[in-house]
Amino acid sequence: MKSNLIQFEKFNIHVSKDVFCPREDIDIYQKIFRNLIKNDREFDLLELGTGTGLISIAIAKEYSSVNVTATDISLNALQNAKENAERNKVSKNIKFIKSNWFSNLEDKKYNIIVSNPPYLSKKNAKHYQSLDDPDISLYSKNDGLYDIYTIMLESKDHFKENSYLVIEHSHNQTLELKNFASKCNLCYNFTKKDILGFNRISVFSNFI
Ligand SMILES: C[S@@+](CC[C@H](N)C(=O)[O-])C[C@H]1O[C@@H](n2cnc3c(N)ncnc32)[C@H](O)[C@@H]1O
Repeated sequence: MKSNLIQFEKFNIHVSKDVFCPREDIDIYQKIFRNLIKNDREFDLLELGTGTGLISIAIAKEYSSVNVTATDISLNALQNAKENAERNKVSKNIKFIKSNWFSNLEDKKYNIIVSNPPYLSKKNAKHYQSLDDPDISLYSKNDGLYDIYTIMLESKDHFKENSYLVIEHSHNQTLELKNFASKCNLCYNFTKKDILGFNRISVFSNFI
């Protein structure tokens, strides 16, 4: 795994060794946030599994009214994300916490929770041999759904009133996520496609 400085739109992101390299689709997240955030009132956003910090940095750059909490289980990732926040001059708007999903977040509540968790199945690992990212950023148990389901279940305890969960997944997991949402009282809102036309990010809420 190499270390690299990459330009994503207007952000300078250094990808440290052993940290997931963000893909080129940060603008899908930006479009979703513009859709969900309709006013300039202060709000709290939690990013789970921040990696290089790109998603949190992009939102902190666009909304001066946001308080971002960004977590990761990997200390390498958190260190990398903190440096990138400084590089892009948003470190005062982002608080970084080492956490296994929600484990170290106490009972704080958020208006938006966003995550691009690991969602590939280890059973298909032979198809992903060319990927240079750490396994912990790629693979999840239960056919790739274990971490997504954990986040969906536990998000409910960290929502304010009228909050959203924005979650990235594999193109063929959309139906499973919709079904799981109905079991855990989350309301399915919409799914955004990536530049190749594949379902990629779904949005859920705790209100209709
Ligand atoms: C696919 S990467 C996404 C990184 C970044 N958000 C992005 O989109 O470029 C998944 C991230 O989740 C982190 N992660 C994996 N398991 C985790 C867990 N149990 N708790 C918190 N973070 C975790 C990984 O270290 C990795 O940084």
